[in-house]
Amino acid sequence: MPETNKRVIMVVHPVGFPKESDFKIEEVPVPEPGDGEFVVKHEYMSLDPYMRGRMNPPSKYAYAEGQLPGSVMLGGSVGRVTASRHPDYSEGDAVATYGGWQEYCLSDGTGYHLYKIDADVAAIEAYLGALGMPGMTAYFGLLAICEPKPGETVYVSGAAGAVGSYVGQIAKIKGCKAVGSAGTDDKVAWMTGELGYDAGFNYKKADDFAAKLEEVCPDGIDCYFDNVGGAMSDAVFGHANDFARIAICGQISQYNLKAPELGPRNLVLMLVRQMRVEGFIVTRFLDRYPEAHADMAQWLKEGKLIYRTTVAEGIESAPAAFLGMLNGENTGKQLVKFS
Ligand SMILES: NC(=O)c1ccc[n+]([C@@H]2O[C@H](COP(=O)([O-])OP(=O)(O)OC[C@H]3O[C@@H](n4cnc5c(N)ncnc54)[C@H](OP(=O)(O)O)[C@@H]3O)[C@@H](O)[C@H]2O)c1
Repeated sequence: MPETNKRVIMVVHPVGFPKESDFKIEEVPVPEPGDGEFVVKHEYMSLDPYMRGRMNPPSKYAYAEGQLPGSVMLGGSVGRVTASRHPDYSEGDAVATYGGWQEYCLSDGTGYHLYKIDADVAAIEAYLGALGMPGMTAYFGLLAICEPKPGETVYVSGAAGAVGSYVGQIAKIKGCKAVGSAGTDDKVAWMTGELGYDAGFNYKKADDFAAKLEEVCPDGIDCYFDNVGGAMSDAVFGHANDFARIAICGQISQYNLKAPELGPRNLVLMLVRQMRVEGFIVTRFLDRYPEAHADMAQWLKEGKLIYRTTVAEGIESAPAAFLGMLNGENTGKQLVKFS
């Protein structure tokens, strides 16, 4: 076992778009398990947009407890137990945990983020994707919030990311038309090719979102899975059908603004189109995760769900990879891999 554990510390609360200097790497001894504890060596860790929100000072707008300067960056990880004094965990067990941006973590076996994983069901990194938080978000945001019916049009913003890439595929499995937007031509080609989206467009090349939506969703939009907010959502509201259902999953276009935009100017459309707009946090569905795990694992096995990962190597690469993900450099799930 190496003698040190490298980890990433948040130095300050970022202002606007974060910078690499908002983070620092430090080395500490690998933790030793006390009675009832075990140590996990991380194989992969997850980089997610919600982490940006956690880096802000405490606010009534936050949906999860933030972190303070000087603390290890929070986040999900998968790995194997290397030392244990816990009755339920043995050396070699594969686990998903909320171990943070570091090479090793210490656990006392509690917390809903911690569970043993079966590397025979899917590759270990899938537990940070299809079988992890992004997959659960796509599954419940679409099926429980949007409630799509066969033949309906599901439109997804942020459609080539960790969550969005599953939303379109699940929509197709459920017999819907899937349409999405993403920020590069390559991402759109992946969506409309391998992922099976019926149509898509590069929003960075579209001057007029409303006109583009007319073109790609000629029958209007019945379900909108919103990952980005802002100008895209403004245009989608105008193209929604009667009784449209809108799941507010994320608002990434807003996360790095110094002040929130004035918003929504189009609530009258909720009235005349009798739309339902509902925000959700995936942990609302914690009790139903087994149902989603079973479906997602089956679809993976049948080849109905595919995924891509964008992988940065080593803990030192995490800050730059995180900024890259916020900038759209990832396709599918952004991970950090440890040797
Ligand atoms: N409600 C929940 O419980 C929950 C759970 C998980 C995630 N989320 C939210 O779901 C969304 C997607 O998360 P994810 O993990 O799947 O991330 P992701 O899509 O894998 O990565 C973030 C992507 O956002 C896009 N983006 C960045 N700035 C943008 C902007 N100004 N306008 C439009 N797109 C922008 C980039 O792709 P492009 O190249 O396409 O720009 C980037 O690749 C996020 O908003 C996240 O906060 C919510």
